[in-house]
Amino acid sequence: MVERDSFGTRLGVLAAAAGSAIGLGNIWRFPYILGKNGGGAFLIIYLICIVIIGIPIMISEFIIGRSTKKNAIGAFKKLAPKTPWSIIGWMGLLSAIAVLSFYGVVAGWCMNYVVSTATNTFIGKTAQDMTNIFTSFTSSTWSPILWQLLFMFITGYIVVSGIKDGIEKYSKILMPVLLILIIILDIRALTLDRANEGLKFLFEPNFNQLTLNGVFIALGHAFFSLSIGMGTMLTYGSYINDSENLKSTALKVCIADTVIAILAGLAIFPAVFAYGIKPDTGAGLAFMSLPLVFQQMPLGNLFGALFFILLTVAALTSSISILEVIVAYFTEEYNFSRTKITIWGASFVSIIGIICSLSNGVLKKYTIFNMNFMDLMNYLSANILLPLGGLLISIFVGYYMDKKIIITQLYNNGTLSNKSISLFMFLVKIVSPIAIIFVFLKGIKII
Ligand code: TRP
Repeated sequence: MVERDSFGTRLGVLAAAAGSAIGLGNIWRFPYILGKNGGGAFLIIYLICIVIIGIPIMISEFIIGRSTKKNAIGAFKKLAPKTPWSIIGWMGLLSAIAVLSFYGVVAGWCMNYVVSTATNTFIGKTAQDMTNIFTSFTSSTWSPILWQLLFMFITGYIVVSGIKDGIEKYSKILMPVLLILIIILDIRALTLDRANEGLKFLFEPNFNQLTLNGVFIALGHAFFSLSIGMGTMLTYGSYINDSENLKSTALKVCIADTVIAILAGLAIFPAVFAYGIKPDTGAGLAFMSLPLVFQQMPLGNLFGALFFILLTVAALTSSISILEVIVAYFTEEYNFSRTKITIWGASFVSIIGIICSLSNGVLKKYTIFNMNFMDLMNYLSANILLPLGGLLISIFVGYYMDKKIIITQLYNNGTLSNKSISLFMFLVKIVSPIAIIFVFLKGIKII
């Protein structure tokens, strides 16, 4: 048996779980899919998904992880030996590979924007110039791949060298700095001309703009942004001390994650409208709009570069949590050496990432269901694999798992109050599964 670590301090768990949740999902993915799906109404549906599905499933993952002290596959083998439940862990492994492949590409874009901002590339540029710069960079062959590989290398390095604790220590300082920077950006963006159109777009629900497909995308993003449905939070849960309160940890992570996403929207949409960028532009939205806001600030280059550095750090605290799912599985189940499996895992994911990156350029013409390869990985993981994983997790906890274990985990052997058990059980037994099944079947157009 491998010795297992656990988080020493309360802030340690929270920082690690929040570090996993907060990342490119909040600042890059959330604004662009909200822009594509009509704005305010999408936000409301997203918030509902967080509350009735996201929070209970995050708690469920923590319960499974902490009660077994195992990785995503080992946990199901332990709780439900010789049953097919460990398929959840297998699907998680697949999701981890799919998510990390395109995540590394986008994180590479951020690193490239650190350099571009610092070297004054964006001074005096118009929205059209920003679009051209983004498209020509992301569709080029070498540069995005080199950045992606550098990011994957750093991710792997952190996971093997065991300096993850160090990273958590740094991110406890750096993430609040990122938060302050986003708030400064918000203030600048909100004082641009036509900023209120952006606010209206973000907060005024117009349900005519929302399609059923939009609801499906919102659900998938709730999973993506909270890092659930894959076993990440389960794996982190396995490191949580028995004295921690799982419910309040989950609640805090979900609130922090949602606040950051909304603050990112508050910086991006005013700028999008002020500069006449189309809100449904797609994956380039943050990269086209935010540098324009920095140009309107004193010391804009410095702020801009710092912002993209911190965004890269936020992406790292997420990417290590994804790679950890793969590494924890192979080290604990097969006794692989940590270093070896990290190198193999990161390399394998990087190769798929290279295909993602090229699919914005030379491989653009190869599409499946009208999506290039990168969009396909993005769609497949967030909208299919994670919600399916979440569905199975909620059914597992709601119907299969021994209720005594759930109670022990939720109330730390009776030391916490037990007021919310029936609400929790209602959510995981009825609300989450029905909502996921319904939205899912509608989304993939079966009903
Ligand atoms: N939630 C992270 C983000 O918003 C990405 C991430 C980390 C993730 N771990 C995950 C997504 C597990 C899905 C599943 O950037």
